[in-house]
Amino acid sequence: MTTTQQLAGRVALVTGAGRGIGREIALELVARGASMVVHYSGSEDGARETAAQIEVSGGTAFIQQANVSVRAEVVAMFAAIDQRFDRLDIVVNSAGVSGGGSLADLDEWQLERMLGVNFHGPLFVASEAAKRLGAGGRIINISSTLGEFPMAGSGIYSATKVAIKSFTESWARELGQKGVTVNTVIPGATSPGMIDSAPDSAVEFFKNASPFNRIGTAGEIAAVVAFLASPEASWVSGAHILANGAADT
Ligand SMILES: NC(=O)c1ccc[n+]([C@@H]2O[C@H](COP(=O)([O-])OP(=O)(O)OC[C@H]3O[C@@H](n4cnc5c(N)ncnc54)[C@H](OP(=O)(O)O)[C@@H]3O)[C@@H](O)[C@H]2O)c1
Repeated sequence: MTTTQQLAGRVALVTGAGRGIGREIALELVARGASMVVHYSGSEDGARETAAQIEVSGGTAFIQQANVSVRAEVVAMFAAIDQRFDRLDIVVNSAGVSGGGSLADLDEWQLERMLGVNFHGPLFVASEAAKRLGAGGRIINISSTLGEFPMAGSGIYSATKVAIKSFTESWARELGQKGVTVNTVIPGATSPGMIDSAPDSAVEFFKNASPFNRIGTAGEIAAVVAFLASPEASWVSGAHILANGAADT
């Protein structure tokens, strides 16, 4: 089987697929044959653009809106997916928000936002996925190197991104009994994506941290996700894969 069609017949959900890394993951899984649930929260135009790109390439796209930090919205999204498709095989938790600030100026709005989207969100999505995924199923969680190398001011974001690794290991042991693999991809600074709204000095910092002297591309993250989604990764579960160009921060 060629890698181009190895996901033929499978249905995938990618959260946050209206822009950034999530969009590239959705396009890559479709390129390998998957039908796609294009999830978005606020980026309706972005989701439509992702779906248009999928359909132009001959793929199937089904757009679904949900705030992943609200469990009822996640439950409703999965109910809609059930109406549209008779199976679900691959779930990628890519939606995420970042934020920073000093400890002394703790911002409770930022705290709740990051806990909601980065911690509750993947949990609510995976809980629904757990009811549906069967043998050969895949959950892929997107973490961050800021979880590996926390910086001054990144404490909340870093903590939510480390938490997802604990989710991965626990869910892998639980869902492995059903033949489902669960893994983490840990990107470094990646464009297009949230790094694009950071100051140039931050981008320079992350470039200099890698011996490749650049930041990553969303396509490079999508390729790692596609491997984990593939049948070839059947024995990879509970793993965390760094995709950061050997950056040391
Ligand atoms: N880019 C990087 O440098 C980088 C590095 C390491 C890790 N990551 C991780 O990679 C993942 C994707 O990030 P990105 O760079 O693609 O970020 P991004 O371009 O800022 O996109 C964020 C995504 O999260 C979605 N989202 C935000 N709030 C949401 C909510 N309440 N409910 C549902 N979805 C919500 C957004 O959807 P809408 O636009 O539709 O609201 C959007 O698709 C995140 O988990 C992030 O932590 C990124």
